[in-house]
Amino acid sequence: MSPESENVLPAFDADAIHAGNFALGIDHEKVAREVDTLMARMSLAQKIHEIRGHGPLPADSLWCAGGDEELGIAAWRMVDGPRGARAGVATAFPVAIARAATFDVDLERRVGMAIGLEVAAKGGNVLLAPTINLLRHPGWGRAQETYSEDTHHTGAMGVAFISGAQNHVLTSPKHFALNNLENTRFEMSGDIDARSLREVYLRHFERCVVEAGAASVMTAYNKVNGTYCCQNPELLQAILRDDWGFRGFVESDWYLGTRSTARALNAGLDIEMPAPYRFTDEKLEEALASGRLHEDTIHRNARHSVYQKVAWQLEDDAVAGKTRPDAARFVECDEHVALAREAAEKSMVLLKNAAELLPLERTGDTRIALVGDLADEINLGDRGSSMVTSTRVSKPLDGIRAAAGGATVTHFASDADLTGLADFDVCVVVAGLSYRDEGEFIPTAQQEAEGGDLARGGDRESLALPAAQRDLIERAATVARRTVVVLQGGSAIVVRDWIDDVEALLMTWYAGREGGLALGRVLFGDVCPSGRLPVSFPRHDDDLLPWDVAALSVEHDLLHGYRWLDHHAVAPEFPFGFGLSYTRFDLSELRVTRSEDEDASGGGFRCRVGVHNVGARAGAAVVQLYVSCSDSRVFRVPKELRGFGRVELEADGRATLEFALPDADLCFWDVETESWQLEDCRYRFRVGSSSADLPLEATCRRADGSWESVVYSPSPQ
Ligand code: BGC
Repeated sequence: MSPESENVLPAFDADAIHAGNFALGIDHEKVAREVDTLMARMSLAQKIHEIRGHGPLPADSLWCAGGDEELGIAAWRMVDGPRGARAGVATAFPVAIARAATFDVDLERRVGMAIGLEVAAKGGNVLLAPTINLLRHPGWGRAQETYSEDTHHTGAMGVAFISGAQNHVLTSPKHFALNNLENTRFEMSGDIDARSLREVYLRHFERCVVEAGAASVMTAYNKVNGTYCCQNPELLQAILRDDWGFRGFVESDWYLGTRSTARALNAGLDIEMPAPYRFTDEKLEEALASGRLHEDTIHRNARHSVYQKVAWQLEDDAVAGKTRPDAARFVECDEHVALAREAAEKSMVLLKNAAELLPLERTGDTRIALVGDLADEINLGDRGSSMVTSTRVSKPLDGIRAAAGGATVTHFASDADLTGLADFDVCVVVAGLSYRDEGEFIPTAQQEAEGGDLARGGDRESLALPAAQRDLIERAATVARRTVVVLQGGSAIVVRDWIDDVEALLMTWYAGREGGLALGRVLFGDVCPSGRLPVSFPRHDDDLLPWDVAALSVEHDLLHGYRWLDHHAVAPEFPFGFGLSYTRFDLSELRVTRSEDEDASGGGFRCRVGVHNVGARAGAAVVQLYVSCSDSRVFRVPKELRGFGRVELEADGRATLEFALPDADLCFWDVETESWQLEDCRYRFRVGSSSADLPLEATCRRADGSWESVVYSPSPQ
């Protein structure tokens, strides 16, 4: 292909992602002056009011904090959360891990923008999302709320969501930090060395703060290295403010999220939510009188909040310079519903498709058996703080019927007699998990939702399906001629027991209000599946790192997910980044060029790769770039994702994807100098369609601070 005719697409188009993000246009000098004038008029009592929530329950679905009528300071009005506005009815999008499977940052920006707009229309001004805790283990109960096991991928999706949402409201990425175990979240300590903390568990938080200008951050319930996050000066001051230059406010997680008065305030917790338990008048007076707390600290913390109010031009009915949008026009509007469907369609991951059973035929004589109670249930995900209620939700049965054309679809409940399945051309089993099996662990709320029966939620001890779901698949597969399994769930599922008995497997996550319709369109081929796994699916539970849902102290290091599997040479069932399609792509012509003035931090590489749709139909390729490093003086994991890009191509269509790889992405955190270091060593750039399929490779050695020429394998034509 001649360079002139090349269709070059950036894998991550930073300008497009950040368009309209209000935080990135703030004139900080001007704001600082205004804030100082305003703060000078505030009494201690007014400042104290600014650092705490208004009460234990939300008012009209809004969690309020601070504000002062006399001074013209509006209150914060916070709304959850990661899959839609948790206030009355709203568009229920697919859960975050489903959207993560799209590997589509532009889509995630648009979803963030839609959720932000709905929150604003509900009268909110802070969106309590995204959840960006790394999936250290896929058994985490809130896996569905976050993006992935990979720090680069989580960072890119988080940045896109925040920049989209911050077109309308402030965001609050959460939970800072190491909140990745549910059942013991109020007590456990994530113990970690400085390097793993910076490189793996905080890198994506750093991007959300530095690149996307996240306007606030929510602390985690748990401890890090023995100190509760809400009172951890290392996290809240040294890293967040001193290193990353964070100018936003820090609020606690709810109820049990603030563990002390003076200690938390001194460490940098600005606002106690949702009500004063530790920041009561009495406790503050006591702390001031004892000298453990100074008025200056209250001033500083209140200023963090007031600063963002001034910066975001907050008024009672306006934020980001815009008056409150009309809820009747924007909440669950056609555009948002279409976006929810697009996200659901792009998120489904085809994991197995023997003999190209999918897409299904829809001619008049095709008989399809649809098996399982979940086929006819609304299953939007957990019922904790991220729960969203929509006016209409399409279930798998609705969507499959809508897309089936002339084919007949007969539904069998889970307890039905399945012996007749042999008479059908194909059997589709809908199986998986629900809020009963995984989710945020809030026993009382879940009990209410269940009408008094205890729903466990929380972490999953095992990644296998519950016995009844496994049994359903096995009973159907034994009788049916050909079986497709449609899996619902918020994270990795072990399928080893039954995968060889079925022809096809589609992972559909919790697909949101349009999930059923999206499923029908994917199964019948109106949509070509393009999702990729943002989490490794292991063969067996014990292939992953040790997992104890009752642990009170958990050692974190550089290895988990695909990094762990690679290091221990354990093959997964389905690797990170994997997903099949109804078409095929060829990747070729990897070209790596060096530029010394890539960005302010120095140089970097540009990696271009040619993508060609060699199948018979349109589809989307997800191309991934991994970096390895040898001859390092420190331990390096076998490889790490450092770029990904998604491109839609017609049959025989071609494009060139370009990845920007700044030197910052090649650095390691040096514990001696407490800084990022770019080492002299050999860097390997590998490109392919999953973490286990990387056919293109280039290496470049850095010696005495200079880069040698790039060596390719295979050599370019
Ligand atoms: C959750 C947060 C949520 C908050 C407010 C807490 O229990 O951990 O993620 O934003 O409640 O609903």
